Amino acid sequence: MRFIKKNYGWMIVAILATLPMLVVFNLLNIDFTNGLSITFEDADGQSTIDMLYHVTGEFAIRWMTAVLTCTPFFILFGVTNLFVRQAMGVATAVWSFLHFIFFIQAEGFSETFTQVNYIAGFVATLILIPLFLTSNRKSMKRLKSNWKKLQSLAYAAIILSLLHVAILEKTWLIYTVVVGLGFMIRIPIIKKQIMAYRASRRAKSV
Ligand code: HEM
Repeated sequence: MRFIKKNYGWMIVAILATLPMLVVFNLLNIDFTNGLSITFEDADGQSTIDMLYHVTGEFAIRWMTAVLTCTPFFILFGVTNLFVRQAMGVATAVWSFLHFIFFIQAEGFSETFTQVNYIAGFVATLILIPLFLTSNRKSMKRLKSNWKKLQSLAYAAIILSLLHVAILEKTWLIYTVVVGLGFMIRIPIIKKQIMAYRASRRAKSV
């Protein structure tokens, strides 16, 4: 019970990030008759690859946007949880890697370098590798102040991902608005005023 009380935040993130994997499994045709073969087809033999791109891409960008709202959320409400943030980072990376794995399987790795939007997505995915590998307490302790510097690469990843989605003319505006507002709240002078306002309200209430 004590464990759940202490860890429920990241556990909820893990459940929310894992549940949609059931949809992904449903879109795959897994056949064990002749070794393991995975194809992107439904029961009627129709291709499910577009749906797989859609589901994995959407979850990747949603989690990435969510991670980047953690700091603005802290500035606005004074609430933060490092483990929740790290779990969100892992969810972002896992969904992005799945998105890319399906792409490689369907189109081939070399196809990545045929369009600017794919290259932008590819660089974003590369950035996520060190972020994914260091999203844990051990790496935080080992890297000390460099950990924060490394994590700030997430800004480049979101800009490249938004570029990828915008060029594809998919849903990008809502994510850009949320991320953009988050960046504005982080501007030192705005951040300082919000923090001062919160501190004064807290002082009045005690
Ligand atoms: C090597 C990296 C990547 C490749 C090759 C790639 C490729 C693709 C392809 C082929 C599509 C479908 C395009 C279409 O339906 O016309 C797509 C859609 C999408 N991708 Fe990526 N992508 C990559 C990385 C990323 C990353 C890092 C993110 C976000 C974190 C992302 C988010 C999305 C989103 C949101 C969509 C639109 C889904 C929809 O609404 O249908 N992609 N991507």
